Amino acid sequence: MRQQNLNITDSQITFNTTDNPTTIEYVMMDWEDNLMKKHASVVCHNKGDVLEFGFGMGISATYIQKHKPKSHTIIEIHPQIIKKAKQWALNKSNVKIIEGDWVKCLDQLGKYDGIFFDTYNDDNYLKFGETAKTLTKPRTHVTWWNSLSKPDNVYGFEDVTYTKYNVNPPKNNYFMGKEYYLPLKTFS
Ligand SMILES: C[S@@+](CC[C@H](N)C(=O)[O-])C[C@H]1O[C@@H](n2cnc3c(N)ncnc32)[C@H](O)[C@@H]1O
Repeated sequence: MRQQNLNITDSQITFNTTDNPTTIEYVMMDWEDNLMKKHASVVCHNKGDVLEFGFGMGISATYIQKHKPKSHTIIEIHPQIIKKAKQWALNKSNVKIIEGDWVKCLDQLGKYDGIFFDTYNDDNYLKFGETAKTLTKPRTHVTWWNSLSKPDNVYGFEDVTYTKYNVNPPKNNYFMGKEYYLPLKTFS
């Protein structure tokens, strides 16, 4: 992900693949706005310490800020998006941007009340299941982007609950369904 030259507009982030330069990969699109709002509200359940993996278009980050959490940490790998994130974070005293690959930044993290995992093109995404457990407090809410249109417990957490939302995505290559299942794992 770090290597791609991104095309960033107000409505989407894309890149052209090296295998076939006419093929577009969609990183983030604004049709997800309402879903990002819901994920934000899940991780801000007690307006505590919030951790996000991936800034993207900053949609979830902007919704999280509306809840005025105590702290809001964002890890982002891509130089073009880091620049946007830093700009966005100006004058937001509760925001900390951590630059780099999240798997290499774990020593900079603490314990959080809400965690939203939403990376893309991330070779290590499956490590999130084990990592999440090291970042939680009692009653932490953990949620993640679920790209399958069904209850999908890819990270192997026990007792995950799902809230279903009807969606109508435009053409893209990461979510084809008409129903989105927003996952929530509450740690004890
Ligand atoms: C789908 S976007 C996030 C969308 C965001 N939730 C929003 O509302 O706009 C995924 C983001 O994860 C970042 N990312 C991908 N791999 C990463 C990694 N290994 N570490 C940190 N960030 C990563 C990408 O650069 C991209 O900005």
